[in-house]
Amino acid sequence: MKIRKAVIPVAGLGTRFLPATKAIPKEMLTIVDRPTIQYIVEEAVSSGIEQVIFVTSQGKSAIENHFDYNFELDMALKEKKKVTLGRELEKISNLIDIISVRQKKPLGLGHAIWTARHVVGNEPFLVLLGDDLVINDQPCARQMLDLFDEVQESIVAVQRVPMEETFQYGIVEGEPLERARTHKVHRMIEKPAPGTSRSDMAIIGRYILMPEVFEFLGRTTPGHGGEIQLTDALLALSNQRGMYAYEFEGTRYDAGDKLGYLKAILAYGLRHDTLGAPLKAHLKKLTAKL
Ligand code: G1P
Repeated sequence: MKIRKAVIPVAGLGTRFLPATKAIPKEMLTIVDRPTIQYIVEEAVSSGIEQVIFVTSQGKSAIENHFDYNFELDMALKEKKKVTLGRELEKISNLIDIISVRQKKPLGLGHAIWTARHVVGNEPFLVLLGDDLVINDQPCARQMLDLFDEVQESIVAVQRVPMEETFQYGIVEGEPLERARTHKVHRMIEKPAPGTSRSDMAIIGRYILMPEVFEFLGRTTPGHGGEIQLTDALLALSNQRGMYAYEFEGTRYDAGDKLGYLKAILAYGLRHDTLGAPLKAHLKKLTAKL
C-alpha cells in the first residue's frame, strides 16, 4: 500500500508561545523567511505525499490563506513587475492539494487525528506535528515511508533523549531489530512520571498509521492531562497489529519551545543560500565577545 495522505494537526492554542501567539497561529511564526508550517508541508511534499489534511480550529485561517492563491497580491506584484516574488508565491499555492477539517473542541492530539478519519478513509497515512522540525538531506518522513514499504505496519519516529526529559514525551519501550535504527514496539507511555519507564526513546512528531487506528481512537478515554492521547490509542493498536519505532537520521528542533525555536532559526539561517555566510560571520563576532 502506498501512503498518499498526511494529517497535520494545527488546532492547538499555542499557549507555550504567548504573547506572540495571542493573535496569530503559532504555526505562522517565521523561521528565516517562511512560517514553520511551510517547512512541515514541504517535508510532506518532498517525501512524495499527494494530499495534506489540516486539522484546524477557530483563528487558524492564516494557515489556509498562506497556502491559497491571493489574487490581489498577485495582481499587485505583477503591476510592480516583481516577477520572482510572484513566482515564489505561486509555487506555495501550488505546493499540494490541501483539505481542512475542524476540531471543534481542544480534546487532545488523539481527538485531532480522529477528526480527520472521514477524509483519510481506509488507507495508511502519515502524521506530522508542526512543532517538530527535522533537518536532514533525506526528509524524516521519506525515511519512514521507505521503512513502511518494507514492513507495511504503523511506525513512530523516535529519538533518544536524556532520561530527565522523558516526562515531556511519549516514550516507547521496544526491542532492536536487525534493520538499522529500527525497533519492534512493546509498550508506549504518554509522558511517564519519573521512574516509571527505563526507556529513553521519545516519540518525535512523525507517525505512519494504519487506518485501524481510528477504531482505537474512537474508544480511547482521556489520559495524561485529561486529553485523548494518540499514544494511548497507539499502544492498543500495537498490541493488536504490531508497530515499529524508527530512530530517524537528522537533527530535530522543537519549534514549539522558545529556545528550540531560536535554535531552529539559527540552523535554518546558517543553511540559507544568501544569509548563511553573513549570519555565520556575525555569530563569530558575537561569540568572541562572550
Ligand atoms: C506530543 C505527543 C507526544 C510526543 C510529542 C513530540 O506531545 O503527545 O507523545 O512525544 O508530541 O513532540 P506534545 O508535545 O504535543 O505535548
